[in-house]
Amino acid sequence: TDTPRLVVISNRVAVPKARGAAGAQGGLAGALHAALKDREGLWFGWSGEESESGRTGNIDTQTNDGVTTATIDLSQRDIEEYYNGYANSTLWPLFHYRLDLAKFERETGKGYERVNERFAELAAPLIENDDVVWVHDYHLIPLGERLRSRGLKNRIGFFLHIPWPATRLFVSLPYHERLVRTMLHYDLVGFQTKEWLDSFLHYCRTELGAEVDEDSGSVTLDGRTTLARAYPIGIDWDHFSKLGETGEARNAQQRMMASTRRRISMIGVDRLDYSKGIPERIDGIGRFFDREPERIRDLVFVQIAPPSREDVQSYQEIRETLEQKCGQINGARSEVDMVPIRYVNRGYSHEELFGFFRASKIGLVTPLRDGMNLVAKEYVAAQDPDDPGVLILSSFAGAALQLQDAVLVNPHSPDDIAHAIRKALDMPLDERKARYEKMVASVRDENVQAWTADFLRDLG
Ligand code: G6P
Repeated sequence: TDTPRLVVISNRVAVPKARGAAGAQGGLAGALHAALKDREGLWFGWSGEESESGRTGNIDTQTNDGVTTATIDLSQRDIEEYYNGYANSTLWPLFHYRLDLAKFERETGKGYERVNERFAELAAPLIENDDVVWVHDYHLIPLGERLRSRGLKNRIGFFLHIPWPATRLFVSLPYHERLVRTMLHYDLVGFQTKEWLDSFLHYCRTELGAEVDEDSGSVTLDGRTTLARAYPIGIDWDHFSKLGETGEARNAQQRMMASTRRRISMIGVDRLDYSKGIPERIDGIGRFFDREPERIRDLVFVQIAPPSREDVQSYQEIRETLEQKCGQINGARSEVDMVPIRYVNRGYSHEELFGFFRASKIGLVTPLRDGMNLVAKEYVAAQDPDDPGVLILSSFAGAALQLQDAVLVNPHSPDDIAHAIRKALDMPLDERKARYEKMVASVRDENVQAWTADFLRDLG
């Protein structure tokens, strides 16, 4: 029998021309592009644009690199209430354990439900009987239930790309029960790691009184059963690991090496988001400089941070905080011919990032909370096997469960980060190679194709 057609639905779609395509699109878009490019499918979502007419309904269909996308524009109000509002000012901070930043407003909650209903209304006619439907991320949690209410009998799965918070935290969300009940209309719900999965199952058992079977991951409520399991996402290894052969990657590597000369470069690449722990990372670097001022001239730290969700206040604040911190350290520590921190607010292509990663002897990935984090995996994949760099990784990133051979740190502790930097700088080649080899095996084998295959096998 033929493999059924795959319909992917997510808020963000990797349409080449859309806003955010230049390096700030995050892990989801890249992974879904890889998942769709080798099979028959359709990718439905938001174009990233505001509709000029103020109305939604016009579907723009395009095929690029073998991937067919169908996108819609959203009205200004939808963007404000659903995207900037409920998704990114309520769910995102809450799911990343930042209750202090989470806003709870009735209006944005309604906007979220309205846009989910609109997605269902516009996507349903595009879905054929035998299609398998795969919905992604926190923007679209209720979508499966909305599609069911339109009579869809297809297999429908859901994958959450971000953490699922501990029950005691999650119950701070008004109408939390209503939201989770909608999830039980999917046939399968997937999480990045066992930690997030366990929190979800705990919630279902203790708050909904659902029957939970931990071994199979089945959740039964009101006579309906949903499977809940963990599927760690990976990178497109075959594609990414070959980027080093491109001229663009080589140029980027050369450019970085020429500009740092004999100095050792450390790199961080993150969307400018408070969950990524960038100010805390800078504090850790500052601590290292305080401790070992004689090594300042040996080092340069490059932080690439393309702006993200710029209409949301907490994102404007994190940007200011970072500007101050980088300015302070550079002001205090620079010489006329030497600046310790290069802080860059723009995105780069995957080819260029490959080159920058390869030129950097230390990769700093220190989120305070992260569903997975693919930058950590890309850094490993870009290293020279004969002289690999060292990955310093937050133990609170989902990726830490697979990359146990990184130098793991508590991202809240400047001392821990400073200590890890010293350890990385002093690490002998043998140890760097041994750690790299274990990590690269996991990055290569637990790749995005395996993730897609595992999830779709269970959904089928
Ligand atoms: C994270 C989320 C994705 C999102 C991405 C970029 O990876 O899990 O759903 O697409 O960030 O954020 P943006 O708001 O630009 O889509």
